[in-house]
Amino acid sequence: MQRTTLVQYIRQRGFSTPGATGEFTSLMNEIIVAAKIVSLEVNRAGIGEDILGLTGKINIQGEEVQKLDEFADMTFTTIIGQSGTVCAICSEERDEPLIVPKTDRGKYIFMMDPLDGSSNIDVNVGIGSIFSIYRKVSEGNEVHDADLRQPGHKQVAAGYVMYGSSTMFVLTTDQGVHGFTLDPSLGEFFLSHPNLRIPEQGSTYSINEGNMENWDEAQKHLVNHLKVSDPATRRPYKLRYIGTLVSDFHRTLLKGGIFMYPSDKKSPEGKLRYAFEAAPMAYIVEHAGGRASTGSQRILDIVPEKLHQRVPLFVGSPRDVALAENILSGKGRSQQPA
Ligand code: AHG
Ligand code: MN
Ligand code: MN
Repeated sequence: MQRTTLVQYIRQRGFSTPGATGEFTSLMNEIIVAAKIVSLEVNRAGIGEDILGLTGKINIQGEEVQKLDEFADMTFTTIIGQSGTVCAICSEERDEPLIVPKTDRGKYIFMMDPLDGSSNIDVNVGIGSIFSIYRKVSEGNEVHDADLRQPGHKQVAAGYVMYGSSTMFVLTTDQGVHGFTLDPSLGEFFLSHPNLRIPEQGSTYSINEGNMENWDEAQKHLVNHLKVSDPATRRPYKLRYIGTLVSDFHRTLLKGGIFMYPSDKKSPEGKLRYAFEAAPMAYIVEHAGGRASTGSQRILDIVPEKLHQRVPLFVGSPRDVALAENILSGKGRSQQPA
């Protein structure tokens, strides 16, 4: 059987892009290497060197840094920083962007959440890595603020690696969303999910419902609405929540439905980070026929005011996100039972 590897897919894609210099292909190859190293470490967690638990440090987000957070951040940063393809690396785990020395600079900006789902590491539940690539937009060799705070629709590529029951690499450039599964015996990602398309509507919602007390009335109404029985609209919806965005998003992409992390009294701007989490997932879901919104605005249209900006996120099937926007705006309330 002829199987396409991720490396082959990227090379073929590069050949079909007019004016391609190979820099993007090199960058992608380095991301794949880093992903395999992190995947191996995740699979070995609990045996060998002690990689579980906390480092004792607190990151820019005010969260406790786990050893695997630090390992993943170091692995991606070191490998990609030396690749000669990027001029800056921005990470959820680092306060400041890392500007690559002049001699090694390439034309891309690399953004990442190196380890997503940190709270699930120690309990052997799915975790992931999220990345996003932009082109440097300013003239000259220096990296400017405008290069680092671009709206999500300017992404050149985005993807995630999911360290789940198998390791998967899901990637979108400008040519659809494709999923590749790691064959651990060969150490290669093979195309397993070509041309992923999200269902028009699902029957699952995904939210941390423990935060309900802090939601506004419209958000409470939306979730209550999804629980009311109405077979014509596939309600009541099922609730699924893992607490790892990569895993909750992946399920939503494959099965349809909606993932929500709204703003609330505790997190007035939402919890998830625009550049490292919301924008890459929005770019992927739109390329698969889905939608991503703050509840009132398209995620990809936002120009973040700061690198570590947070944003409310409603992402998933186009009909489910439209329904959420409708109810949140107050418009849908009178027509919708409960
Ligand atoms: P990270 O581990 O990178 O800090 O991200 C955690 C995020 C995301 O993966 C998930 O969707 C969300 O936080 C879960 O938050 P709650 O624990 O508040 O539900
Ligand atoms: Mn995360
Ligand atoms: Mn993280």
